[in-house]
Amino acid sequence: MARTISQTPSRALAEFRLLPRLTTAESVPAKVSLRAPLVTCPATGVTLHLNIPVASAAMQAVSGPQMGIALAKQGGVALVFCSQTIAAQAESVARIKRHKAGFVEPRTVSPEATIREVAELSRATGFSIFPVVDAAGMLVGIVSRKDYDPGRHEGRKVTERMIPRARLEVGVEITDLSDANALLLDGHHSVLPIVDRQGKLLSLVFKKDLEEYAENPLQVADDRKRLIAAAAINTHDFEERVPALVEAGADALAVDSSDGYSFYQGRTLDWLRARYPSLPVVGGNVVTGAGFDFLVEHGAGAVKVGMGSGTICITQEQKGTGRGLATALLDVVAARDRHLARTGRYIPVVADGGVVTAKDIVIALALGADTVVMGRYFARMEESPSEKVVVNGRVMKAYWGEGSARAREWKTARYGQGVFVEGVEGLVEYAGKLADNLPETLAMIRSSMASCGCATLALLHQDAELELVSALSIREGQVHDVYLPRTASDDGGRSWGE
Ligand code: IMP
Repeated sequence: MARTISQTPSRALAEFRLLPRLTTAESVPAKVSLRAPLVTCPATGVTLHLNIPVASAAMQAVSGPQMGIALAKQGGVALVFCSQTIAAQAESVARIKRHKAGFVEPRTVSPEATIREVAELSRATGFSIFPVVDAAGMLVGIVSRKDYDPGRHEGRKVTERMIPRARLEVGVEITDLSDANALLLDGHHSVLPIVDRQGKLLSLVFKKDLEEYAENPLQVADDRKRLIAAAAINTHDFEERVPALVEAGADALAVDSSDGYSFYQGRTLDWLRARYPSLPVVGGNVVTGAGFDFLVEHGAGAVKVGMGSGTICITQEQKGTGRGLATALLDVVAARDRHLARTGRYIPVVADGGVVTAKDIVIALALGADTVVMGRYFARMEESPSEKVVVNGRVMKAYWGEGSARAREWKTARYGQGVFVEGVEGLVEYAGKLADNLPETLAMIRSSMASCGCATLALLHQDAELELVSALSIREGQVHDVYLPRTASDDGGRSWGE
């Protein structure tokens, strides 16, 4: 007989509802903060925070560089998928880090360069402005696309066409974007070079980036004002993959495994702790307190929870392993709280798989998760890497599991893991740009937290009151007993009163 046989059913997120509590002046939606810890680094004690508690899943159909940039601008982070070559994944991370978020480390040209060389560099990089610096790194001038004609001036030296240092407005050792902004607003140029006291070039600040920055107040950036980038790794090629991702600028890693309570993940985390002690790593996935303890003992700075609950997942059906996400979270969060009481160290918990709507997010958070990972939600967006298809006049995007035949083609070639599939390939309705969708979802979360009287996620953990609901109560909470006009996007489920 089995070691344990629990006859208490495991619970899904959808089986819980939040009870309203007194809404206070501090907990109105406009004042609710969604700032959340993503992952800590046990060695340094530093915690990487997001400004919204969401990350996009480490999946081919979800998290490429465009998603990474769009989501970091909104305050979250993408887990760039690892079912691709090391070079391709590192380039995705580098693209997120290169995206201009304020102070930019520019490509420079030497005063000896010719206009032909500048024009070639411009074509190759897509950049139109190059600071001119001497061998010691001192700023000599700036040359932009407006300063030369590629044909007429091609043989000329860059120094003949650049705007020299004496005619440039520069910022000396400015580290605050608002100071840079003030100089740019007063000045006549669209770019502000930042130099040290000796005149050595440190960075550039572009006027148009500042405008974009002002539009994205929740943007998450590192101390050099570059967007945050996170990347998934596997337990096979980490010794080659991790150095490349670190070199590309990854701020955090997440071990991508459907079953993280394993010798292989322990070995991967041990290696990371020895080689990269200050790099924060999310371990996972687990669904038990024992799994949490195991990953944390091996150095995980956050634990991802969920097995078998994802929208494209057939792990439970194929293997019979898995757990309802709510029950898994409760077990892991209890282990996290015991760990906190024992050691004083808080390990963030990440809910993953089957988090589909705003209500799922807020219930996962109220159950004790700090952040959620979503695949299906983000796959629908313009910024996901998957292709659009039109089915019966409806625009859809392909969405497939990392364990589906489509994604496994890559793994099979590399690891020979293609014996059976654990995921499917399907379609999700195209939703448009992330920036046109996520704010509405976040508004619902803020409104829900306000109704619970919780102005922060820490207060939601402490004060939320959740209740299990019956199937009839769930039905009562949906539209019922009215006729609804069918629309193109109607899923049919809302029209059961007809
Ligand atoms: P979703 O947000 O419900 O669509 O679930 C996304 C999550 O499902 C991912 O973050 C993974 O944890 C998990 N997942 C991804 N691919 C597969 C698969 O092929 N089988 C099972 N689970 C998967």
